[in-house]
Amino acid sequence: MSKKNYYITTPIYYPSGRPHMGHAYSSIIADVIARYKKIEGKNVYFLTGTDEHGLKIQREAEKNKKNTQLFCDEISKKFKDLTKILNLSNNDFIRTTEKRHYKSVEDLWKKLEQSGDIYLDKYKGWYSVSDEAYYDNDEIEEKDGLKISKLSGSKVEWVEEESYFFKLSAWSQKLLDHYKSHPDFILPISRNNEVVKFVEKGLKDLSVSRTSFSWGIPVPKNQKHVIYVWLDALTNYLSALNYPNTTSDLYKNFWPADLHVIGKDILRFHAIYWPAFLMAAKLPLPKRIFGHGWILSDDKKMSKSIGNILDPIEIIEMFGIDQLRYYLIKEVSLGNDGNISLENLKNCINNDLANNYGNLCQRVFSFIKKNCSNKIPPKKDLSKQDKALTGKLKNDINILTNLIDKQDLNNYLKKVIEYSFDSNKYFNDSEPWALKKTDINKMNSILYSIVEQIKNISILLLPIIPISANKILDVINVKSELRVINEIKKENTLDISKELGNVEILFKKVE
Ligand code: ME8
Ligand code: MG
Repeated sequence: MSKKNYYITTPIYYPSGRPHMGHAYSSIIADVIARYKKIEGKNVYFLTGTDEHGLKIQREAEKNKKNTQLFCDEISKKFKDLTKILNLSNNDFIRTTEKRHYKSVEDLWKKLEQSGDIYLDKYKGWYSVSDEAYYDNDEIEEKDGLKISKLSGSKVEWVEEESYFFKLSAWSQKLLDHYKSHPDFILPISRNNEVVKFVEKGLKDLSVSRTSFSWGIPVPKNQKHVIYVWLDALTNYLSALNYPNTTSDLYKNFWPADLHVIGKDILRFHAIYWPAFLMAAKLPLPKRIFGHGWILSDDKKMSKSIGNILDPIEIIEMFGIDQLRYYLIKEVSLGNDGNISLENLKNCINNDLANNYGNLCQRVFSFIKKNCSNKIPPKKDLSKQDKALTGKLKNDINILTNLIDKQDLNNYLKKVIEYSFDSNKYFNDSEPWALKKTDINKMNSILYSIVEQIKNISILLLPIIPISANKILDVINVKSELRVINEIKKENTLDISKELGNVEILFKKVE
């Protein structure tokens, strides 16, 4: 048996500006996995939060003429609100301006000092405030008279100041060994290759403190310096588990993390710096880092008139949260960059949700209401076809779980929606309406099987469209504690004693 506890994280957001679709996407991916693990019976801890230190935030607060802490309180709240709007199942929302986080970062810093991995020197080089990242000369190019990072395209500035360094160079080989012995550490595999290639070139020591601004966690025993925002931010994954209190239940149960979900732009920090810090501090490494791609919008500027808006909150207001969650998981290929558009979103809602799953539930429930006194009829001798319908899904459970464990959410959802398509087709082809007078037992068994299938499909859809799938499970009177994966494998689980709940239109077609 695999272990019972499961710790999954999203990146903690820079709360600057409005939340955008990329933020929503990262969070929804992690939430889908967290929710699946929960119904698989795991004890899940799911973390998100905000990353509030660094020059970027300090400058924005200054621009807004606000006290930095008050500014952070305001903007962090927007992201906390977003977690509600996205219907995330997170257990905690950490802020890097919290005391518990300071304690954790200070401890990690001391461990790195004690192990001899930190020394004082002078940093001279390029820095991008918007990425909060240092870049080498060969990673810089000039565009329109500005120096920018070749990797991210963001502006860089020259920095020269006293700085503490982390001996990252000393960890190159250990990192390479780890990547080699843990081929699933960085996924998808293309990202792993990218990281390996970068580390093979040899790593330079990393500047881990700054003196030219103050918005950060001071270096213990040298308050002139603040700790580099990435060393600060990455540690949130530990602070939420009460680190440095390594005897606390949270830490003991959940560290090392099972999965850090991140976007590909922050791969270096998670796949190189973070494991190097942890190794130096003699802490166990997370099991996996999954780097998803970017959400694009036809390479066009967002505009309502073009119809390519990417504001998640507007889209949710227009179409609903389940609809957006479904769309992002179905249509954006998880490891790659993906274009999204209003047109595709509408097609997806109509084809998959309204015409397929929604329609299946609607027509089967209305048929039962009309012909079976609104109760799921009892099954007598199931036919071969009935058994084939429900049996296929039951047999696929291990495959589905494996897909989730590989973070292959696209194929997971593709399979689930196929079951729904097949059930619709079965209802059509077996024509239960024609059997009412001729073979009521056969009709009943067909209906029982299809409702059983609706139940199982809805359980599988819970991680993706929790609100809608729960509504369907309400209609067929499935107890909430039975909305779990194990239940799918069982037979005879439908409650035929109660009337079906009210059926409302689940997914309105959009024009
Ligand atoms: O990077 N498409 O925060 P962040 C897909 N604070 N994902 C996108 C995206 C896009 N267009 N734009 C952003 C940070 N993201 C740090 C994280 S973790 C210790 C610190 C994703 O607010 C991005 O890849 O800039 C990242 O996973 C997340 O949104 C937060 O980005
Ligand atoms: Mg970013």
